Amino acid sequence: MAQLIDGKQISKEIKEELKAEVEALRAMGKEICLAVVQVGQDPASCVYVNNKKKACAYIGIRSEAYELPEAVSEGELLALVEKLNHSEHVNGILVQLPLPAHIDEDKVIRAISPDKDVDGFHPVSVGRLWIGEPGFLSCTPAGIIQLLKRSGISIDGKECVIVGRSNIVGKPMAALLLREHATVTIAHSHTKDLRKITKRADILIVAIGKRQFIDAEYVKEGAVVIDVGMHRDENNKLCGDVAFDEVSEKASAITPVPGGVGPMTIAMLMNNCVETMR
Ligand code: GUN
Repeated sequence: MAQLIDGKQISKEIKEELKAEVEALRAMGKEICLAVVQVGQDPASCVYVNNKKKACAYIGIRSEAYELPEAVSEGELLALVEKLNHSEHVNGILVQLPLPAHIDEDKVIRAISPDKDVDGFHPVSVGRLWIGEPGFLSCTPAGIIQLLKRSGISIDGKECVIVGRSNIVGKPMAALLLREHATVTIAHSHTKDLRKITKRADILIVAIGKRQFIDAEYVKEGAVVIDVGMHRDENNKLCGDVAFDEVSEKASAITPVPGGVGPMTIAMLMNNCVETMR
């Protein structure tokens, strides 16, 4: 049985460290404020936004909620972002995605000041990441790096395969692993002979959005397996992109779902909020 990589515990450690840092900042008269913008009432977004607000409260970051109706115009949303860009007491701006179809998501992301882009989605943040300049890191991939490091898994020189090429996970994950001196392959839906590629991986990161798609046949004996997926199985239980039971027999270490990558995303968002003051 593989070592379980405990995202719940590791995210708790990070939040405790951040809480102490925020207390020290407050003692110097510095307060951090995150503006959380939500459009409409998508149930999943409501859960995520609520968890982000709770994490802020726990760490000592002030969160300001902006709840806009589903029918809000793109212009009104852009005007709010512009106001927050110029607001001196707001350090970070988060616009919860997805946005309704009548709003251009890319336009909204580009409107956020790169200095307040705590999601790390702005093209300036993405560019900084790829050329190795300091900047805000995309939260889920940054969380995965922390999971590996804090579990004592070295990345330097390892063969890493990422399955999935999204802007939020796959691509920034590749940049961060490169920064840690790994050899990186990104596989995706057009990749030929996926099993052959994934079986090369010392560290396999799966973000394809297909329930329990990666079974033991895709995994090398002793590999480290990181599962970014989140689904419900036939019994309504949470599960990931990886068939956990059989893969955990073959892997040396694996993240569970829930309690693996999920809690790390919010911890790293909190880290980015604190980063605005460092
Ligand atoms: N929707 C799903 N994940 C995220 C995230 O990390 N940030 C934002 N802003 N929206 C999301």
